[in-house]
Amino acid sequence: MAALMDRYPAISDLEARAKKRVPHFAWEYLASGTGADQAVERNNEALRAITLTPQLLKGKFDPEISTTLFGIEYAAPIGIAPIGLTGLIWPGADAALATAAADRRIPYCMSTVSTTSPEDAGPASKGMGWFQLYPPREKGMRTDLIERAQKAGFTTLVVTADVPARSRRERQVKARIRVPPVIGPKLIAQAAIHPAWSMGVLRNGLPRFRALEKYIDKATMRNIAGFVGASLGGTLSYDYLAEVRSEWRGPIVVKGILNADDAERCLDHGADAIQVSNHGGRQLDGAVAAIDALPAILDRVGSRVPVLFDSGIRSGLDVARALAVGADFVFCGRAFLFGVAALGAPGAGHASDVLVDGLTNVMAQTGCRQLADLPLRLTNTS
Ligand code: FNR
Repeated sequence: MAALMDRYPAISDLEARAKKRVPHFAWEYLASGTGADQAVERNNEALRAITLTPQLLKGKFDPEISTTLFGIEYAAPIGIAPIGLTGLIWPGADAALATAAADRRIPYCMSTVSTTSPEDAGPASKGMGWFQLYPPREKGMRTDLIERAQKAGFTTLVVTADVPARSRRERQVKARIRVPPVIGPKLIAQAAIHPAWSMGVLRNGLPRFRALEKYIDKATMRNIAGFVGASLGGTLSYDYLAEVRSEWRGPIVVKGILNADDAERCLDHGADAIQVSNHGGRQLDGAVAAIDALPAILDRVGSRVPVLFDSGIRSGLDVARALAVGADFVFCGRAFLFGVAALGAPGAGHASDVLVDGLTNVMAQTGCRQLADLPLRLTNTS
């Protein structure tokens, strides 16, 4: 652990190594936003503009960062955001994320379109698993998926609201991402110069949408991406959310909310928490920076329910910034996948260690014994 921390002390170190180890098309899938990546940049810039004013002379203390959410104690207010097509980014990534979450006692949110099944990922995450739902159009499929997630031990359902339509993602179009990957000369050429990734594919097999396979007949299998596009998403409405509420026995988080009216209506229709997010800048290039949307949502619903946050977090300092603005819990997507792609399975835990160590250090530097002290260190608040 110390050796890894010496060599890769920052998420940006993991990112740089990941970029070298992953074939171009998989890198583009992971790293890109949409359009000209303006929303990605906006997230970064808005976070980086937040400053904290330390309070000193506090004597010796150890910052306390464990956090209870929906009755479960987590070691830190940092979770693994849902990522689709995980096995394309790094073979075996799903198992690495679930195991790291179980080891580090942080939540791991499995995506509907990740490359594992709820039956594998639920037990592997040992009570730390959350399940993300892209709303299926067909109700039978939804009910079954929810039932499977429940049976597999996932504690919390995350309903993603911010994919009302496919995003154009021009970088991904140019990189010719296909699911399942089409084994042609281009892919072979890219894989050949990334041997660790290719060996991983040989060991783990080509990535498949394992959670969804049972709903797809053999004939459709060749066009599974088409099936996924046609059967998930574009369906979510408040009535649909209320139906999901009646099927899931546990907390529901609605993810991808940027507007305070939406947040309030989600609560009226059964949500137990809101996750403020712009999908890491991957849906709408003109979207408001997620961190800039957070205060109004906190004002409206923050006293009633937990408000979670993601989009743009790349360090423990960024986690501290989001918590200082008022988030109750912070999720990271790319940061964890940079870790896995850089270092293989141990990279997921290492990314967590980098974020946790960074957050703890910021708290020490700013004189915060508890997470609740962080908002008091936000510069220029009245
Ligand atoms: C995502 N995200 C996402 N969200 C979701 O609800 N379901 C999904 O399947 C995916 N898939 C996905 C794939 C990849 C490669 C990325 C980068 C992101 C969005 C994700 O959960 C989260 O909102 C963002 O990743 C947060 O931004 P950062 O931390 O990556 O900057």
